[in-house]
Amino acid sequence: MNVLVTGGAGFIGSNFIFYMREKHPDYQLICLDKLTYAGNLATLQGVMNEPNFQFIRADIADREAIYSIFEQEKPDVVLNFAAESHVDRSIENPSIFLETNVMGTQVLLDACRKYGVQRYHQVSTDEVYGDLPLDRPDLFFTEKTPLHTSSPYSASKASADLLCNAYCRTYRMPITISRCSNNYGPYQFPEKLIPLMIANALANKPLPVYGEGLNVRDWLYVEDHCAAIDLILEKGEVGQVYNIGGHNEMKNIDIVKLICKALDKPESLITHVTDRKGHDMRYAIDPTFIHEKLGWLPQTRFADGIKKTIQWYLDNRGWWENIISGEYEQYYERMYGNR
Ligand code: NAD
Ligand code: DAU
Repeated sequence: MNVLVTGGAGFIGSNFIFYMREKHPDYQLICLDKLTYAGNLATLQGVMNEPNFQFIRADIADREAIYSIFEQEKPDVVLNFAAESHVDRSIENPSIFLETNVMGTQVLLDACRKYGVQRYHQVSTDEVYGDLPLDRPDLFFTEKTPLHTSSPYSASKASADLLCNAYCRTYRMPITISRCSNNYGPYQFPEKLIPLMIANALANKPLPVYGEGLNVRDWLYVEDHCAAIDLILEKGEVGQVYNIGGHNEMKNIDIVKLICKALDKPESLITHVTDRKGHDMRYAIDPTFIHEKLGWLPQTRFADGIKKTIQWYLDNRGWWENIISGEYEQYYERMYGNR
């Protein structure tokens, strides 16, 4: 089986590659990644020289390059993790989100159509459903919840999902889509809530909580997301959307306080800053469908997953300290300097 993983030098894509190496050592894995600011070859150093692994640097929106890679590598299966993934950056500059997340997906779909694949899987997000009110804890996102996006990021991801549906129906292509809640775990880029708070707390820097910090996210350990995607590849039904989440809703402020406690840092580091524009209040996935149809259940309790994650950032300071110098410093100043 020749498996092409786009965006495999990023957070979830790299964890997926590690998961698949263990689970299916006979698969040939090709990681295709543009290596944007979020892609990091250091993450892949452990697999780089393995015989069943190959890395190709390319942009999913570059039609010529993608067609020539498909021509040469003839992938059986394509999993599209590649994306611009940070909501705050999409608010600052939406264009690249449309180029990569929408046009890039279209190029991949066209390549799959032209060269033929057994399966194309689109890694999407619960953000395509918009948000839920805080005072309705009885409401959850199901696969039937209408798309209702808030940010340029989520609009671009929803557009890609619609394209996938259109290609599946019109050209009868073997496409599946998964929509997962917030992931956490090793190798997450430190612009995202959990690693940003860990890195800042370790440096005794302010912990910038947007608004009052009452927004709720539904956290899932990254390996559980990887296992769900693998299961969808094996047993999923073509044309189907699968929501992935583990019923683990938490307020941002509680996550930040938990990180302070775990690192023995004072809560006085917490600084409330200007809220994100259009900030979604609550995400909450109903995972009944994937549980009933495919038997998936999350394996990692949040208490264990967050402990492992914090320990990973303590043990791998070189990985993230490298990242938070250079471009990231300029980003941090733009995003948080006058907030
Ligand atoms: P990430 O930002 O950590 O990684 C994205 C990767 O894609 C990077 O390696 C980057 O170099 C690569 N990339 C970006 N543009 C590219 C292009 N034009 N061509 C080729 N490669 C390109 O993102 P992540 O958090 O790992 O998210 C992976 C996928 O999962 C995304 O599609 C995202 O929308 C989705 N998702 C993320 C979460 C989450 O909590 N992080 C939850 C649900 C879904
Ligand atoms: O739900 C899935 C989505 O989760 C994915 O599709 C996205 O790719 C991923 O980035 C994530 O989006 P969020 O916007 O929820 O994640 P982020 O880590 O940026 O923020 C989580 C919450 O924390 C959100 O309510 C904003 C808040 N926040 C974030 C940062 C970076 C802060 O309060 N302070 C911060 O500095």
